[in-house]
Amino acid sequence: MRTPLADYRVFWREFRHTFHSTGAVLPSGRRLARALASRIAAMDPPQKILEVGPGTGAVTRQIISRMGPNDQLDLVELNPRFAEVLRNHLDTEPSWKPVAGRVRVWEMPVEQIDASEKYDVIVSGLPLNNFAVAMVQEILSQFHSLAAVDASLSFFEYIAVRKAKSLLCRRSERRRLSGIERLLFREFQQWEMSRQCIVSNVPPAWVHHLQLPGKSRVESPEPRARSTASSHFSGSRPSTLDSKKT
Ligand SMILES: C[S@@+](CC[C@H](N)C(=O)[O-])C[C@H]1O[C@@H](n2cnc3c(N)ncnc32)[C@H](O)[C@@H]1O
Repeated sequence: MRTPLADYRVFWREFRHTFHSTGAVLPSGRRLARALASRIAAMDPPQKILEVGPGTGAVTRQIISRMGPNDQLDLVELNPRFAEVLRNHLDTEPSWKPVAGRVRVWEMPVEQIDASEKYDVIVSGLPLNNFAVAMVQEILSQFHSLAAVDASLSFFEYIAVRKAKSLLCRRSERRRLSGIERLLFREFQQWEMSRQCIVSNVPPAWVHHLQLPGKSRVESPEPRARSTASSHFSGSRPSTLDSKKT
């Protein structure tokens, strides 16, 4: 079993090597993780849950603790080192092992998931403020495509991060940040249900909870990648732990 310290080490290493996609120095704190997972409640019929950008699993742990006996969880993580950590947790951690048969680890960018699968709850840890405006637009529309009817989408951003960055950066960067601000503002205006301020996180963060209109579910036995992921994502095919017995 890995220690939290081992997870912190991996996170710190990935922050230095893949800052753009990792976007944080440390995994989310417990309060932030709890707030992100708070839309998961044991329901009948069972829920399909998607976590995007689980990293070393700080939020995943909270999701797992809230899963009902028939809920399913897909973890979509583009960084192979983080995906490896997640598989290891599922194999070895006492609180993760019981649900391992209902959890899949997909090692790929969320943009490449085939949207035929629909989710009732989507939780995202993506550092949207690091991405190009077009990519944020693509990711937001992918969330809409993956949402079942009335699905919830929860994600966070550090408080005032765009304003703080805008004070220090070049004009092109300011333009990028205000483009992201506009996209998110539109989403919030249309779909935001509530937001929570997590002051105890380092740094403090807003958690946004949206309710998306979504689309009806068409059951498919195995979600597929839309296409083969580009070459820098090794092991790009969905890595399924479905067959694992608990
Ligand atoms: C800020 S970290 C959040 C990690 C974790 N959820 C937490 O709160 O501690 C962002 C995570 O998103 C992943 N990521 C970034 N872009 C992604 C994408 N397009 N598709 C899937 N995962 C992505 C990164 O590899 C990283 O694990």
